[in-house]
Amino acid sequence: MKIESKFTKATLHALFPTLIYQDQLDQHSEFHQAFTSLDDEHFFSPSTAGGKRHHAGEYHGRILLHKEPSLRPFFECLALHVGRYLRELGMRTDVFEMQCLKSWLVLCDPEDEDEPEAMIAHNHSCSDISWVYYVDVPEDCPAIQFHAGRKLGNQLFESGFHFDWNDSTKSAVKTFNCWNSETWSIHPKQGDLLLFPGHQLHSVEANYSKRRRTSVAGDIALTLRKQQKDLEYGRTSPEHWLTLSLGDNEH
Ligand SMILES: [Fe+2]
Repeated sequence: MKIESKFTKATLHALFPTLIYQDQLDQHSEFHQAFTSLDDEHFFSPSTAGGKRHHAGEYHGRILLHKEPSLRPFFECLALHVGRYLRELGMRTDVFEMQCLKSWLVLCDPEDEDEPEAMIAHNHSCSDISWVYYVDVPEDCPAIQFHAGRKLGNQLFESGFHFDWNDSTKSAVKTFNCWNSETWSIHPKQGDLLLFPGHQLHSVEANYSKRRRTSVAGDIALTLRKQQKDLEYGRTSPEHWLTLSLGDNEH
């Protein structure tokens, strides 16, 4: 993709970037009401499970919010945004539909100051597209950080860019941008929806505010529509799948 230089008349070519989608949902007050009115069965204590803090409903077996009838308007809205994201990526959407695989609450209570991350870097390996919706978050909402997890294409000079990520005097970088940063932080606001590739590494900073941060996360798979049986790309519709066990008692 061609982009203009801020400094010269040169044409710059941006190659192999990652696209993250962020939008504020117009129906946030309606969705906030729906999520905060869920029955107690959908909530959990973040401090349970082996004495550790487990902020995500995944650790508590609560992964099926998308089956909750009162949340249907939210998931229909999510699907519209997934379509917009895919079209921004240059994909055709007329042959696909999306499957909600998992969806769960993430409840981050105020942290101990010595805990730098509420959630360490991870990805969602089963997912084509992952999402987070910020239901009820403090003004100083902790950032979600995305990590390259690999050497950047522009890392021409090896350690020339950074000697120490935590000390700006030990870096040749004058301005952080997507060409020289291995980590990128997004500070979402209440009502924001983020969409990103499921394989993308990300982490969440500790919640240093005074109140709970409530978000919802989920994983999506893209499948072809039922009638699409003559294409060489894409997963077939789940309606065509045959489910078999793996004979796990053989050995
Ligand atoms: Fe995650």
